Amino acid sequence: MSIDTATGQEAPAELSSERVKTIFSSIADKYERFNAISSFGAYKLWVAGMMKQAPISKNDDVLDLAGGTGEISFAVAKAKQPTHVQCTDLVPEMLEVAKEHYQNGAAGSVPVDFEVVDAQDIPYPDNSYDAITVAYGIRNMPQREQGLAEMFRVLKPGGSLICLEFSTPPNKLWRGLYHFYLKHLIPFWGGLITKDKDGFVYLSNSIKAFPNQEGLARLMKQAGFTEVTWKNYTGGIAAVHVAKKPIAKVAE
Ligand SMILES: C[S@@+](CC[C@H](N)C(=O)[O-])C[C@H]1O[C@@H](n2cnc3c(N)ncnc32)[C@H](O)[C@@H]1O
Repeated sequence: MSIDTATGQEAPAELSSERVKTIFSSIADKYERFNAISSFGAYKLWVAGMMKQAPISKNDDVLDLAGGTGEISFAVAKAKQPTHVQCTDLVPEMLEVAKEHYQNGAAGSVPVDFEVVDAQDIPYPDNSYDAITVAYGIRNMPQREQGLAEMFRVLKPGGSLICLEFSTPPNKLWRGLYHFYLKHLIPFWGGLITKDKDGFVYLSNSIKAFPNQEGLARLMKQAGFTEVTWKNYTGGIAAVHVAKKPIAKVAE
């Protein structure tokens, strides 16, 4: 099934994919500022939380999906020193910014490769990565079940998926304030600062249409993941989910 990621309603996948390409190719050079604004400056804190939770070690080969300008790839490189990071994204303009950061030493001594990849159709073999990271990616995918199935397929048994995403504050009052902020303030002042109101309107809509913490965990379990846990940040405005691909039972 495919949906319109701005509404959650069934729609052809191309609608959302084309919109995402238009938005991110045009904001690539100001994305990092856009990100700081849209996350209320808390993004760095959430990335630090994601790194704390991520079961990634020195011998791991890590796949970063929807990697954008490389923020998560470089955070993994610095925090975990894995053997390699594959930084991928649907939009080449975003990866161009990531490559520039890499050339300026953003990953330290960890080798990072870059490739244009649709996370819903990953061009890598089964069981090829020790860990997958995806930040603010799944919400933008019109075929989420297919995306999660692909992540499951390319992870090695025993490997982990670590996902950072906007989510739903469980507290009613905090949720009400947050939704007011999303609907009325984010498009206004985000648009004012970056001159890209449409991107902020889409951001607000896609956050509201996205499943809550339990809903995302359910989708992960349906794709075959086990041991799905999550931790809320900023009262549930963001959440980091960690899920495992189980080690297959050997037939006796
Ligand atoms: C909000 S940005 C997040 C970038 C990065 N993960 C970060 O945390 O800064 C979302 C990214 O998802 C990418 N994206 C959207 N749909 C995608 C898909 N189907 N496959 C791969 N990347 C996708 C966009 O191009 C964009 O770069």
